[in-house]
Amino acid sequence: MAHLIGIASGKGGVGKTTMTINLAIALQKSGLTTLVLDADLGLANAQLMLGVKPTHTISDLLSGNLALDEIELNCYAGVGLIPGASGKEALTNLSTPTLLDLINLLKASPKQIVLLDTAAGISKQNMQLLSTCDSKLIIFLDEPSSIADAYGVLKIQQSKSGLESTFLIPNKVNDQDEGKLLYKKMNGLCMNFLSEPTQYLGSIRKDHKVLTAIRSRSPLAKQHPESLAWQDIRLIAEQLAKSLALN
Ligand SMILES: Nc1ncnc2c1ncn2[C@@H]1O[C@H](COP(=O)(O)OP(=O)(O)O)[C@@H](O)[C@H]1O
Ligand SMILES: [Mg+2]
Repeated sequence: MAHLIGIASGKGGVGKTTMTINLAIALQKSGLTTLVLDADLGLANAQLMLGVKPTHTISDLLSGNLALDEIELNCYAGVGLIPGASGKEALTNLSTPTLLDLINLLKASPKQIVLLDTAAGISKQNMQLLSTCDSKLIIFLDEPSSIADAYGVLKIQQSKSGLESTFLIPNKVNDQDEGKLLYKKMNGLCMNFLSEPTQYLGSIRKDHKVLTAIRSRSPLAKQHPESLAWQDIRLIAEQLAKSLALN
C-alpha cells in the first residue's frame, strides 16, 4: 500500500505546490517511487511547475472513464503526476463516497509514496482529504494570516484524526535558526490549545530561484540544483524518509 502524504497550508500562495513537486523529486532521487496528485481540484498548477502538458486529468478518473495509470504522466526524475482539472467546479464539491473511492485508489497505487497537493482553505472536502492521509505536512510563513490559517487547519485535523505524523514546515525563512523558532512558536500553540505536539523536519529558506524556476516552467530541482531552497527540501525529504521509515 502506498503511503499518503498530504501537503496543506490553509492560506494560499505559501509554497505548497513548490514543496510537493520538489519533495516528490527528492524522494524519487533517494530511490523511492512517487506519485503526485494535484488535489487542488479547482485551480490545478502542479503541471506548470513540472513543465508538462497533460492530455488527461483527475476528471477522467472521477468520471470513471480512465484508470489511474492511464492518466499518470511521467515527469522529471520519474515522478508520476495525476494532473488536476482547472476550472472544473464540480470537482470542488465531491461526495464523501467519491472522495473515499479516490483515497482507496491512491492507496492501491504501486508507487511507494503518493503526495497530495491540496487546495487552499478549509473546505469540508479539503479537510476530509487531508485527514485520510498517513502523514501531513503543514507549510506556513512568518505572517499573521499564514500562522492563523495553518493553525486553523491543525485544529480541524486534531479534532478529526489527531496530530500524529503531522510535520510543520516554515517556508521563506532567512535561515534555519529563524525557521526553528517559528516552528517552536506554532508547536507551542498546538501544545497549549490542542494538547498535542507536532513534528519538525526543517525549514525552507527564502530563495528567488524558486520563482525563476516557476517562470521557466521547470522544476527547481532541475533548473537550480544549487539553490538554497532545493537543498533545504532535499534535507527535509531525507528526514521525512527516516522519520517514516520509508527507506
Ligand atoms: N522558499 C521560497 N522562497 C521564495 N519564494 C517562494 C518560496 N516558496 C514559494 N515561493 C513563492 O511563493 C509563490 C507561491 O508558491 P506556490 O508553491 O505556488 O504556493 P501554493 O501552492 O501554496 O499556492 C510562488 O510565486 C513562489 O515563487
Ligand atoms: Mg498550489
